[in-house]
Amino acid sequence: MCGIVGSLGSFNAKEVVLKGLERLEYRGYDSAGLALLQENKITVFKDTGRVKNLISITPEVESHIGIGHTRWATHGKVTQSNSHPHYSMNERFILVHNGVIENSRELKESRLSAYNFRTETDSEVVAYLIEYYFNKYNNVNDAIRKTMSLIDGSYALVIIDTEDHHKLYAAKNKSPLLVGVSAEGYIVGSDIMPLLDHCKQFIPLEDGSLVEMGMNGDFSIAIYDVIGKERDYELHDIVVNTSDIGKGAYEHYMLKEIDEQASVVRRIISEYFKDDKLVLDDKVQKVFDGRDRIYILAAGTSAHAGYVAKGYFEKIAGIPTEVHISSEFIYNTPALTQNPLFIYISQSGETADSRACLVKTKEMGYPSLTITNVATSTLARESDAYVDIFAGPEIAVASTKAYVASLSVLLILANYFGKSDMNLKQELSKAAGIMDDIINKKEVVNKLAKEMLTKRNAFFIGRGFDYYIAMEAALKLKEISYIQAEGFAAGELKHGTIALIEEDTPVSAIITNKEINLNTRSNLSEVESRGAKTMVISMKSLSRPSDQIIIDDVDPMVAPMVAIIPCQLLAYYGAIIQGNDVDKPRNLAKSVTVE
Ligand code: M6R
Repeated sequence: MCGIVGSLGSFNAKEVVLKGLERLEYRGYDSAGLALLQENKITVFKDTGRVKNLISITPEVESHIGIGHTRWATHGKVTQSNSHPHYSMNERFILVHNGVIENSRELKESRLSAYNFRTETDSEVVAYLIEYYFNKYNNVNDAIRKTMSLIDGSYALVIIDTEDHHKLYAAKNKSPLLVGVSAEGYIVGSDIMPLLDHCKQFIPLEDGSLVEMGMNGDFSIAIYDVIGKERDYELHDIVVNTSDIGKGAYEHYMLKEIDEQASVVRRIISEYFKDDKLVLDDKVQKVFDGRDRIYILAAGTSAHAGYVAKGYFEKIAGIPTEVHISSEFIYNTPALTQNPLFIYISQSGETADSRACLVKTKEMGYPSLTITNVATSTLARESDAYVDIFAGPEIAVASTKAYVASLSVLLILANYFGKSDMNLKQELSKAAGIMDDIINKKEVVNKLAKEMLTKRNAFFIGRGFDYYIAMEAALKLKEISYIQAEGFAAGELKHGTIALIEEDTPVSAIITNKEINLNTRSNLSEVESRGAKTMVISMKSLSRPSDQIIIDDVDPMVAPMVAIIPCQLLAYYGAIIQGNDVDKPRNLAKSVTVE
């Protein structure tokens, strides 16, 4: 969701900004723009559509300063004028913004009623306020901090003062923003991706920070809070490699990421098992001490991993566990037990709904643990402890390897704090082998996708863990193929949903659990009798010869990680059949940084 890049230094700002915006494309956007120094004047180029359009309209300029933006519309339609960067009223300041200014309308009416606005955006109000206060204080730092003190909501801002081309300003509250540091200058980014070519270190910014970067002779950087007090900061090493973020020989990131799942599981084994013994950070132990209930908070695919994890924690560790969707929990907080532990699952570690919950549960004084793929993310930094899922950068909007990696790590956690008969290390390695087998037979799924996905809708059914896999399978299919798909508890179908079954309605069943497999088979017969076209993904020992995808047996706890893979492939091929943009589906963002 909205990507930001800012560049100040001896590198070529045009290249840094455009490459940075391409690297942020995966976050989802509908327009793109940038501002660069051209013939001693800061000039803006912007348009709707992809970064490649922006590249084609940006002239050849050598600029030492630049800011760029990919916009995911929240306030105002997808138009060229609403695209960023935005000017202040007399064009003294130019800025890019990610986030939502909740009181923009009030501020327009109360302080800026004398001015005409050029766009429908909330972001433009910030630019106007900065110039308005600059005219009063005659100091840029003061003007930006005054503006920060007035605006409610979330923001990551990068600002150019058109009268001083040797300074770049950045401000942050709730929306993610990092500053890359190198001997050649500074690169500001919504995440680490735009920094990779030039910086080896970065500064994560705290909420309420204003950064002032300069290149007058020496490079300089200072960070202030809203009051104007200078803040200390720490430099962190960048561990992501540019080779980790390429597509390689793959046509799509999603297929590459599906294929990587077995190696991700093997990496997790090597990270968390030392001589066959599970090893976790002491901080993780500490947050679990004395807890009477786990509350898992997450969104989308991560929430689906949470439903499976509830089974892990309850069945293996005997800890009662609830799963809540972050966007609901924040405003409809349930009655809590005396000693809760909050576990946040988030691939990006930046999901605004989950971040809002973390702020709230911290204020309530409860311990928190984040399971994430991005060790430098806001949720990882702000929780009492975090556990890395080691999936490597996930670029496709549809989450695949992060789901499997989260499940592996959650199963490790449950085993660490509980007891089970399974040999976890062995079962995980076995699962990795089976994943490879399924992936090697992906053409079978491709063929099935052509046969099955012929309608505007599709259903996935299962019971127990298989129900949670069904939910994730449906989310994958709908987000990239745009086929309306739903995951149902198989036994619940006849309480309403079965009315939707007609001739050739696709229904896929997931069957990995011995105790309930026959019940699911009965539900499948019920829909078949009503004309449904069915497909079964089953575990070998529970399979029937007519089943379309048969998976080697694994422990039922590990089954979700394996059984989801044909479903991911089905969604992938479904999207290809529809001719959709697999990695960047319409309307979606990878990192959902607004509530
Ligand atoms: O980064 P997070 O795991 O917190 O993201 C949560 C959801 O936005 C995400 O899982 C989303 O549902 C995926 N695009 C689904 O594939």
